[in-house]
Formats: sequence, structure tokens, C-alpha cells
Amino acid sequence: MKHIRNFCIIAHIDHGKSTLADRLLQTTGTISDRDMQAQALDDMDLERERGITIKSHAIQMNYKYEGQEYILNLIDTPGHVDFSYEVSRSIAACEGALLIVDASQGIEAQTISNLYLALEHDLEIIPILNKMDLPGAMPEEVSDQIVDLIGCRLDDIIPASGKTGLGVDRILEAVVNRIPPPKGDENAPLQAMIFDSVFNSFRGIIAYFRVKNGVIRKGQKVKFFNTGKEYNADEIGILKMDLFPKNEVRAGDVGYIISGIKQANEVKVGDTITSKENPCTEAIKGFEDVKPMVFAGIYPVDTEDYEELRYSMEKLQLNDSSLVFEPESSQALGFGFRCGFLGMLHMEIIQERLEREFNMTVITTVPNVSYHAFMKKDPDDLLIVNNPSELPDPAGMDRIEEPYINAQVITKAEYVGSIMTLCIEKRGELKNQVYLTQDRVELTFEMPLAEIVFDFYDRLKTVSRGYASFDYHPIGYKPSDLIKLDLLLNAEQVDALSALVHRSNAFDLGKKICLKLKELIPRQQFEIPIQAAIGAKVIARETIKALRKDVTAKCYGGDITRKRKLLEKQKEGKKRMRQVGRVEVPQEAFLAVLKLN
Ligand code: GTP
Repeated sequence: MKHIRNFCIIAHIDHGKSTLADRLLQTTGTISDRDMQAQALDDMDLERERGITIKSHAIQMNYKYEGQEYILNLIDTPGHVDFSYEVSRSIAACEGALLIVDASQGIEAQTISNLYLALEHDLEIIPILNKMDLPGAMPEEVSDQIVDLIGCRLDDIIPASGKTGLGVDRILEAVVNRIPPPKGDENAPLQAMIFDSVFNSFRGIIAYFRVKNGVIRKGQKVKFFNTGKEYNADEIGILKMDLFPKNEVRAGDVGYIISGIKQANEVKVGDTITSKENPCTEAIKGFEDVKPMVFAGIYPVDTEDYEELRYSMEKLQLNDSSLVFEPESSQALGFGFRCGFLGMLHMEIIQERLEREFNMTVITTVPNVSYHAFMKKDPDDLLIVNNPSELPDPAGMDRIEEPYINAQVITKAEYVGSIMTLCIEKRGELKNQVYLTQDRVELTFEMPLAEIVFDFYDRLKTVSRGYASFDYHPIGYKPSDLIKLDLLLNAEQVDALSALVHRSNAFDLGKKICLKLKELIPRQQFEIPIQAAIGAKVIARETIKALRKDVTAKCYGGDITRKRKLLEKQKEGKKRMRQVGRVEVPQEAFLAVLKLN
């Protein structure tokens, strides 16, 4: 154990984590130069394209320092807020962290929130000033920020560049010298924490773990503490570029287990693996059952594809246990699923994977949060509302509560005013304002999660010209004055367009949504009234004028290929359309609420 080091890399998105990790793998010979492919750790195509590490992985490197062989386990952590629980488990599996800060950007919101997580777990922090090769690097200024933030000495900070390789040797030496070896007792009952799992179509579900105490052996009977399920450890091993089977994995080390687990949701990140014969008395602390935060309906464009959509979602769930869904039906859209996601990014990823990996064309409805409704007849009885159209009649309701978050924004001093205005417009309340340096300010707000689901990110980017970073954490439910805003197309209510909004915004929103729908729904052969209503009361109206001309009319009937082309084009444009009553509605219209500004 003396020669093992377990560490992770924490950074704000795009500060160069994956590039630097690749460099470490290359320098330690874990991956040959020939096999070196940019961002070797991101093995899903989608991840590589988006340049974000979605799922955490682990990899073992061998490193020789002053004649001694060391085992370095690098545990990769996802950088996005949607996956912050996974980050916290990966961090809990380590003794140290490389804190990467982009020398041209400085400290950002996720640098700080991930750092706090690392400090909570008493990790040794190695600060790294990355992207030193950039002409815009500001080493002095950013180093000062780092010193202020973590209270280290200036010469603890390692200047580096994932691009040129600068600093990589110093980083590896620091991992050995500064990060403590794992503690743990090989003779104690087995206690291993699961920090991730993946689905492999040949091997089934593979769970990654860090052994805290004891030894896990091949063929042993194991028990997952929190789910209570028992398995046979069919295969265990360590993680190099591939799975590397072993007969045992001992305290302090990181490994994987394959044990005939059928469903991804049997493996819970944060759960403890112990032995069936000689179980540990308590689980490793920090286990949480992650709950979806954002919900939306997903419907097939073609109603006949419902079964295929179900199959695809089940397949997706196999390797993403945080995706939840159940069948629902909508008057407007027919049969589909109400899905729960960790956040907006997670939702986009699922939608994209459905389309790419399963070739499904789907309609997604406006995302919403999960509301708590309390009825007058029993004000303690909580009703969970994950779909605005299922909100009970307001007359019988005592109150509605919605989830709130603590939002952290880090920005330049000159944008503080406009960001405050935005946050207040989004029903936020300023809780704290700290100057990190003369020019960098950290703002803390309390605000409803629902406002983040709407167009918050984009607005924040706009008002700060990109100079703001953002992070948030849920802080529980609070009562809110929310009402249901309904939309009618051609005098028919479209349930998939209903939203819960704050009473003070309802009129304004109703008007804006009608205008937006008018812009998004193409003209058809007849006139279409668009109305917004609260209960029976119509609060806004727009009209889409009828289309008179036949699209092919201007082709003079002569040129047949041209005519066909035009029809083809029309058909393509139709792909993402849904017939709602007599009206053809494009996908974008279902998300109109998100695009009002
Ligand atoms: P997430 O996984 O999304 O959190 O991003 P990341 O932190 O892993 O960043 P990644 O390594 O993908 O790098 C982000 C971008 O910065 C990419 O375009 C890289 O090519 C670039 N980049 C990374 N390291 C360096 C560096 O040292 N110098 C320069 N000039 N660019 C770099």
C-alpha cells in the first residue's frame, strides 16, 4: 500500500483535464505513443465530440521514481454540475487531487465547487496552472487567485501545459511526494466503495470500486450493502487501458467487478461492496440515492414507433442508471414517456443518444422540475407532480412547493450589475457577494431550480459576454405562488405545452409564448388561433393566417424534377412535425418556452 497513490483531477469545464490526463498516460507509458489518440479517456463518440467527460473512469499507471515502482490510480471525474454526485464519489475514492486552472481563464465556479468537495474529503491538493503555452496566459494573476483560494505557497503551484508537455514530470513527482498513500486494513472485513459503473455489451455491467479495507477475491460471494443484493465475483481485476483480470484486489487499490448484474440500477454509485461470509458492520459514508431533477416527455414522432422507443430507452438505461422513465400519455402527443434527468445537459445527451445510437426521431416536451402539491383536505399529504398537466385543480390545493437551489456565479466586476438584474428577474435572492480578487466576484443566490431549466444559461452567457461561470446545488423545497399556464391551438388545449409559472410572470409569459408559437408554427391551409389561458380565462391571443398558395404552384407544372425536389424538401421539413388536432406542430414549438428571449 505504501507505493500506491490514488488521485483525481478536478477542473472547471474545458480547463484541459482530459488533455493533461492523456499526457500522464503517455509519459508513464500506460498508452503507447502510437496508440495515443486525443482524449483516450473519453471512449464514447459523443463525449469526444462534445469534449466533455460524461462518465468517470479509472486507470492505473506504473511509474518509477528514484528507483522505486509506484502504482498511480487516476480516477477521472465528470466536470459538469449535472453529475456532481458522481464527482463527489470519485473524490471520495482518492487521497489527492490535481486542481487544474487554465492560466488564461483563472478560477471558475466549478473550480471552486469541486475544490470544496475535495477539501471536505481531506484530499491533498496539487495546484496546476495549465495552458501556460497560450499567449493569453496570465500566470502571476492566476497564481495569486490560487494562493488566495487554497492558501498554498506560490511555489506549490506547478506551471504546465497539456499541449506541450510542460510540467508533466513535476506533476508525477508531486503525486508521489505530496499525496499520502492510502490507509486501510487488509485484514479487516471487505469494504469497497463503488464509484462508477458501465455497461459493456459483451461483458454486461462492470462496477468500478476502491477497496477501503480487506481484500476482494475472484469467485468470492459479495454483498452490496445498500441494495442488499448478493452476487458472485465472477471476475475482478484492475483497470489499465483495458480490463486486467486478477485473483484479488487489496485494500488501497482500485478495481472492477463483473458479477452477472442484470440491471444498471442494481449498481448504485456510492454503495459498499462487502463479503457475504464476513460482512463489514457499516457502509462507507456518503451514499445517496440520486434523484432526477428535471423531467420532460419524450414521444416518438411517428406514433407507431412507441414500442421501438421503449426498447431504446431500456437499452439506454442499461448503461445510464440515472435515467428514469415511465409511460405516459398525452392528449396531444399520444403515447410516450415521462423521463427524469439529472439536469439539462443530461437531458440533451439522452436525446442525442436516442437519435444517434438508436436512430429514433423524438419530440421532447418542455422540461420541468418536480413539484410538490399539498391538498386542502390533507395538507400533510404530499403529491409529487412531475408533469404540469397533471397538477390538481387549484381550488382543492393548499399550496405548491418547488425545488430551490444555491447558485454560485463567478464573474468580472463589470458584469455584476447585469447578472444581479438577471438573477432577480429569475426570482433569485442575493445571499452573498465576495471579491475573490479586485476584478473577480463570486455571487451567491438562492433561486428556484425551474428558472435554471428555462433559458438561464444562455441569458447568463449573454449578459456577461461569456465571462461568467455557474454552478448550483439543491437546497430543498419552498412554497411558491405557481399557476398552470395552458396553451390552445385552434381552440384545443395542448397538454404538452402546459407549464407551471409564477403568478407574477404569467401574463407576460403567456403573451410571449403565443408570439413565439406564431413564429414557429408554419402557416397551414386554415387560420389557427393561438391562445394562452389560466383556467378558463384566456390571457393572450395570436393568429396564424391561412396559407393560400400551393407550394408547387410556382413551378408552372412543367419541370417535374424540380417539383419533386420541392416535395422532398417539404417532406424533410416535416420529419420533426407532430399532428396536434388539425395543426402540424414542429418540435421547436414544444420548446418555445425555453426560447423566449
Ligand atoms: P471537460 O472534460 O469538458 O471538463 O474538458 P477538459 O477540462 O477535459 O478539457 P480538454 O482537455 O478537453 O481541453 C479543452 C480544450 O482546451 C481543448 O480544445 C484542448 O485542445 C485545449 N487544451 C487543453 N490543454 C491545453 C494546453 O495546455 N494548451 C492549449 N493551448 N490548449 C489546451
